Amino acid sequence: CGIIGYVGDRGDTEVLEVLMDGLSGLEYRGYDSAGVAVANSSIAVRKREGDISALESALDGDDVDGTAGIGHTRWSTHGPPSDVNAHPHTDDDDRVAVVHNGIIENYQPLRDDLESRGYEFESETDTEVVPHLIADALADGCDRERAFRRAIDRLEGSYAIAAVFSGCETVYAARDSSPLVLGIGDDGHYLASDVPAFIEYTDRVIYLDDGEFATIEPDSVVVTDADGTVVDTSIETIEWDPEDAGKSGYDHYMLKEIHEQPTAIRQCLHERVVELEREIAVDSVASLSVPDRVQLVACGTSYHAALYGTRLLRERGVPATAFLASEYDVDAVPVDRETLVIGVTQSGETADTMTALREANSVGATTLAVTNVVGSSAARECDRAMYVRAGPEIGVAATKTFVSQQIALVVLASELTGEYDVDLVGALRDLPGQLQSVLDDSRARTVAEEYLDADAYFFIGRSYNAPVALEGALKMKEITYKHAEGFAAGELKHGPLALVTDRTPVFALVTEGANPTKTIGNVKEVETRGAPVVAVTDGCSDVERYADFVLEVPETHPALAPVLANVQLQLVSYWVANDLGRSIDKPRNLAKSVTVE
Ligand code: G6P
Repeated sequence: CGIIGYVGDRGDTEVLEVLMDGLSGLEYRGYDSAGVAVANSSIAVRKREGDISALESALDGDDVDGTAGIGHTRWSTHGPPSDVNAHPHTDDDDRVAVVHNGIIENYQPLRDDLESRGYEFESETDTEVVPHLIADALADGCDRERAFRRAIDRLEGSYAIAAVFSGCETVYAARDSSPLVLGIGDDGHYLASDVPAFIEYTDRVIYLDDGEFATIEPDSVVVTDADGTVVDTSIETIEWDPEDAGKSGYDHYMLKEIHEQPTAIRQCLHERVVELEREIAVDSVASLSVPDRVQLVACGTSYHAALYGTRLLRERGVPATAFLASEYDVDAVPVDRETLVIGVTQSGETADTMTALREANSVGATTLAVTNVVGSSAARECDRAMYVRAGPEIGVAATKTFVSQQIALVVLASELTGEYDVDLVGALRDLPGQLQSVLDDSRARTVAEEYLDADAYFFIGRSYNAPVALEGALKMKEITYKHAEGFAAGELKHGPLALVTDRTPVFALVTEGANPTKTIGNVKEVETRGAPVVAVTDGCSDVERYADFVLEVPETHPALAPVLANVQLQLVSYWVANDLGRSIDKPRNLAKSVTVE
């Protein structure tokens, strides 16, 4: 879910404009319903099931005005998408409106108690307890701020919450385990789950920490801790250009972000290659000693980057294991002070990954966040942060952040172990240009057209390419809604081969240094069973003899070939989804940043 808030003197109607712009900038965080509340002498609430355009239509010609407002775009957890379950939620007398991101774990007993005392609930959400708790505190004589704090004190779970009151020019906010960032503007102040919501208005931000409250007024922002003591905050300046968050002429953010990958790599490597050549460790990884063992925790696409990183580390003699963050259990694996736990997370906010990192910290491991978002929860939770610097990624399906994670892990593996492979450093320098040549190749589009009607898509690869096979399948599933599976190529014969027919194209990743000969053996297995074969290859073998199509990638260092091969697979998925007319940037049921477990 995404939250936006604004208090300021831009003139009445502009409050709504700021909120709607903010929601557009946050839509990647959820888009099954959206709503706004604007406070004046009363509170106007407008909310609709569907994406933001449904809310826009509902607001058309509506005379909503005020000086303080909040907005929300939802990814459902409690209660299906509907107008009534959309945020904001209000108390019985519409004195307070609340938006919430996260999960209130004790909402049922709170609701039972409030209902038994006559409070009436309209929605099925956990969030609705909050406005009623606030109303309850107001009824007990608390002032607004006290009532807000008293309500928050009763919540268990994870939350970022913002509230506005009738007759009041203030937005009250609180955070625990869900992100909130304040924007300091010349013409008012902003509040959001993430910076893209208000970057067009201000680049000066204050990140709230867990347990903190904010009171935001037109000319002041006060941050306090759980006891109400004022916290010293520092204002940081964000380096993103608002233009970076636009589509720049591409039909979809995803296509734009795929094309930004050469730049993303350059940004990720910025000075790091030079540093590598000088054999100087950089970033905040500098003083890390070689750990006894490394554990990588991550979800989704980031997990595939973690699998890739694991192989890089093992090749350099460091025992490394990747864990799905939701399955990580410090009681079941050896974790101690000599263990380095790396959270790979583009957003730095994924709840599963955050929980794993907190657990690792609780047993004394050294933690490192490899993330794209400066100041994100993961960056602040961990002992160190390494930023992948891909720039803002809006498309829900991760593309450029995956490539940047791969590159960051290549650099990290070298830095951690002090193994500086001259060939690898040279290859890293050439990589952005080589990736551009893959983007200029139109064959992926032809392959997509050829196999548009396939029953399913399979992806196979060995060694460094195995994680890319998984990622190729995930991308295909996410944006085309078609059945796709990725396998370590050797596993194909142990079961999945039963699924192979002449209507299931098999994408085989065959590159130098990733067991090409054995992979070709697996290609033959599917080819003799009538499956179309698409080889993604750097020309290191004669796989084209068995392939119906060949997607080429330039020759590079063996560890980097999967980075290029992955881009061909991204393009195939994109064009299949495009030809099928899918909602590419906002696939059904998914959200970019999943802040619930
Ligand atoms: C969500 C997104 C995926 C992403 C995963 C992990 O499920 O839809 O694309 O890979 O979260 O996100 P993270 O921000 O931790 O990398």
